[in-house]
Amino acid sequence: MANIVGGIATSHVPAIGRAIARNLQEDAYWKPFFDGYKPVQGWLEQARPDVVVVFYNDHGLNFFLDKMPTFSIGAAPEYRNADEGWGIPEVPPFSGDQDLSWHLIDRLIDDEFDVTTCQEMLVDHAFTLPMALCWPDQKWPVKVVPVCINTVQFPLPSAARCWKLGEAVGRAVRSWQSDARVMVLGTGGLSHQLDGERAGFINKDFDLQFMESLIHDPKWATQFSIHELVEKAGTQGVELLMWLATRAALGEQVREVHRNYHIPISNTASGLMVMEPTA
Ligand code: DHB
Ligand code: FE
Repeated sequence: MANIVGGIATSHVPAIGRAIARNLQEDAYWKPFFDGYKPVQGWLEQARPDVVVVFYNDHGLNFFLDKMPTFSIGAAPEYRNADEGWGIPEVPPFSGDQDLSWHLIDRLIDDEFDVTTCQEMLVDHAFTLPMALCWPDQKWPVKVVPVCINTVQFPLPSAARCWKLGEAVGRAVRSWQSDARVMVLGTGGLSHQLDGERAGFINKDFDLQFMESLIHDPKWATQFSIHELVEKAGTQGVELLMWLATRAALGEQVREVHRNYHIPISNTASGLMVMEPTA
């Protein structure tokens, strides 16, 4: 049976792509952010995942407002990035693990998560940039399975529902007949709001409490409705749903391996955590 070696939760911001392209990692603005990923790269060398299940939200590259699945899973042989504007360079394509994709789809539908299956899927900055932060040489040593959660068009799935999705993904991975080492990656958040009267809103107290909760009281955030989460974390801060799904996939107990938090990257409070399952 497959083994989950750990999970990484991280923010994603398009400006990171531009900073990578311009080699700004040592620049004063970017250094505290990029330095946070060095221990992640060290951990990855030890954890040696073969496959990564990526919880992320598409921002209009693959799905648009006319067709918006709540939960969708990639089952493609390959995933490509495409021009999202702002001159973000495209990264090399990712190889899909179709065996794990279909296993997840089968198990999730059995488990009453009626996911949309995508045999073609473009992946946007929320997928590509966290991968590039994990593997800066962009020679991806892993296969991938994208799991996309709608945080773009209301109504959004609740935090409690995303927790259950993560649990179901964890169970499904652990029942996969494979000796692969699987990692879970969740991207989005932490607090930020890009639009409206509160544009620029950041809530450090909430973010720190949320990060802490993932270790000691991981279902803490599931008490909040989506509107309460928007109030606390900002309209786009609700992307923290990916962190919840990631944490849920890891099982009952985890050990914290690494944490970083830095304000701001663009409009976003950027957070990063690495966790390993212990039970
Ligand atoms: C920003 C943050 C995001 O999560 C995103 O998807 C786009 C932009 C930002 O802070 O600029
Ligand atoms: Fe985003």
